[in-house]
Amino acid sequence: SLPVENVQALASNNLKNIPPRYIRPEVELDLVSVDESHQIPVIDMSKLDHHDELKKLHLGCKDWGFFQLINHGVADEVIEKMKIDTQAFFKLPLSEKTRCAQIPDEIEGYGQTLVVSKDQKLDWNDMLFLFPLPVPLRNMRFWPTNPPSFRDTLEKYSMELHKLMVQLVKRIAENLGTDPETLSSFFEDVTQGIRMNYYPPCAAASKVLGASPHSDATALTLLLQVNEVEGLHIKKNDKWVSVKPIPGALITNIGDVIEIMSNGEYKSIEHRAVVNQEKERLSIAAFHNPKKGTQIGPLPDLVKTNKAVYKTMPLEEFLRLRLSRKVKGKLLLDQMKL
Ligand code: SIN
Ligand code: FE2
Repeated sequence: SLPVENVQALASNNLKNIPPRYIRPEVELDLVSVDESHQIPVIDMSKLDHHDELKKLHLGCKDWGFFQLINHGVADEVIEKMKIDTQAFFKLPLSEKTRCAQIPDEIEGYGQTLVVSKDQKLDWNDMLFLFPLPVPLRNMRFWPTNPPSFRDTLEKYSMELHKLMVQLVKRIAENLGTDPETLSSFFEDVTQGIRMNYYPPCAAASKVLGASPHSDATALTLLLQVNEVEGLHIKKNDKWVSVKPIPGALITNIGDVIEIMSNGEYKSIEHRAVVNQEKERLSIAAFHNPKKGTQIGPLPDLVKTNKAVYKTMPLEEFLRLRLSRKVKGKLLLDQMKL
């Protein structure tokens, strides 16, 4: 990959002119098409034993691919501590943060989205990307020791989110009409990536993007909005819907892997992040994938009467395909179509 500047440092230079590689001529037009008449559904995890709420979850996965999960059972303290330590990390001097710097061509550590071509537009974003699970594959060299509680905080957050994810997958299986234990067993030995995003304020906020439009290539994402600054946009009927985060909620989204496993019934939705002119914005995305070796394809129960819409291939092959199409977003799923 090609080296990219640190965006936080760039932003603090009080730039009059943003480097051209960050400028997206299409964004300004696009911002006009933000749809204010809709919001993503809110699902109450504590009520999923009731048929109505379970049905709401089904429609959230099917019609939206995104919802806000409340009463999810993750303790407030765990979430608050994660927010505090993440904010503290990004506040550190650059020289301290770069002790966890990415190494070339790898996504893990502190740095920026991988750049694969010199024409690729750049995101107004710095991130710390870590893989807490499975435990034996942790790369501790990338885990901050400053603030001192960071590692412990992330470990607790990681465990809690994984537990929640497994519970949620069981409910998803119920809704799809497949065995909850079978589906959730794929995610017991999960691969979990946690990406902490820092979007500095930008003088030309309406001309840049914090995250380019993409769908998540993983199975299920649990996304925490760290401060009160809005910025997540999701595609709905060819317009962008700006998500208004509920304090304490975990925004949940279906990724490509669940879209494939559900044989297209559930949708992995294109989304993006915009940035604010005055305020920094932070978010924490936790991605979950089945363990290595899992066959990624429509669940056998779902293709007994319906035709399979997607191919089946080992996770590794799927991820290779994803890498080769990295900047093209949603096209990956088209490639998986039969
Ligand atoms: C992303 O999905 O890549 C970013 C989400 C966010 O910052 O809210
Ligand atoms: Fe995403």
